[in-house]
Amino acid sequence: MDRSRVLVERIRAVLEAAGGAVSLARYMEMALYEPGLGYYERTPRIVGRGGDFATSVSVGSLFGELMAYWIEHEISASEGLSDGPLEIVEAGAHDGQWAEDILEALMRGAGRGCDRLSYRIVEPSATRQAWQRERLARFGDRVAWSEAMPDRVRGVILSNELLDAFPVERWRWSAAQRRWVEQGVCWKDGRFDWIALPTSAPAEWNLPDELESVLPEGFVRERSPAAVAWWARAAAALQDGCLITFDYGLEAEEFLTPGRSAGTLRAYHRHRVSDDLLSSPGEVDLTAHVDFSAVAEAARQEGLTPWYRERQSRFLMRILEATQRSPGGFQDWSTPRVRAFQTLTHPEHFGRSFRVLAQGRGASPWSRA
Ligand SMILES: C[S@@+](CC[C@H](N)C(=O)[O-])C[C@H]1O[C@@H](n2cnc3c(N)ncnc32)[C@H](O)[C@@H]1O
Repeated sequence: MDRSRVLVERIRAVLEAAGGAVSLARYMEMALYEPGLGYYERTPRIVGRGGDFATSVSVGSLFGELMAYWIEHEISASEGLSDGPLEIVEAGAHDGQWAEDILEALMRGAGRGCDRLSYRIVEPSATRQAWQRERLARFGDRVAWSEAMPDRVRGVILSNELLDAFPVERWRWSAAQRRWVEQGVCWKDGRFDWIALPTSAPAEWNLPDELESVLPEGFVRERSPAAVAWWARAAAALQDGCLITFDYGLEAEEFLTPGRSAGTLRAYHRHRVSDDLLSSPGEVDLTAHVDFSAVAEAARQEGLTPWYRERQSRFLMRILEATQRSPGGFQDWSTPRVRAFQTLTHPEHFGRSFRVLAQGRGASPWSRA
């Protein structure tokens, strides 16, 4: 039997054991991550031109080089990190490409404090760890792996398009009942289908009267407690330095706008986007916009302070400006590198919808500069 059919049978068995329905988050957990069968378990080659979607990492090594520069110049100078070991912790590393780009750039800058740096990948999947270990073998014991976030990190915890890959719940507005109804997954007429669940929406989703009376029937919104919990856990681990992520997402109030009535969850296959979310578990990527308000609030509660919450383009421009203030500290701008920078920052590529969220212990040294 092929992997997709095995996965379908496995999800059906879980549905049956749960009485016929599970939350979308449980379905997504299996569709994306079921060991050996889920979408992210099958092949490293889903990112980039020959895969299903592009990321800033797949644009080329420039994104990693800019991060390496930022780590060397901002993170190294931040409170509590001017000497002693400094750890770079990456999650969502997939095939290890970003780690390779960052490490290579840092090694080129060797002599500027590189010997105190180490790189750790947090990777719960044995399959993906194997892909990463193969790619990063030449860096020897400078790279280490853990299945979960370490208890204490001094340095930077970074990720690109990690939070959008967490399972989400899906909620649909019932105008008649004036409440959010959770949309779970069931098996009906030979395929996966939506079914209403008897759960209650979180209290913070209670709407003001004026909005409650106009929100249209069927308005959809997602919620990812798993992404928020991951960010809170990373924030708690951070002793000194910064927790940073790049992703597409919105602030809480931006979700409840007319253009978002179908929610943000989408399926991706071969660079095509589809709203057919349940038809091919294991064969398509399922991804939803990050709720930056919810994740930022979780880290605020862990005592982190705001560093950056802006478009990716603005943040990368800041790094570019810093490289220009200290000439010689960054590779020359060849035509392909200029083109890569444009792709990372242009509104029609990664510039508009991609944002950076960075929160740290203490203030950012660059904001004090
Ligand atoms: C959209 S891909 C991004 C890959 C890469 N960062 C890039 O930008 O090209 C998301 C990755 O996050 C991984 N992931 C999801 N949940 C994770 C978790 N809890 N810990 C570590 N990685 C996770 C997925 O397996 C997948 O490899």
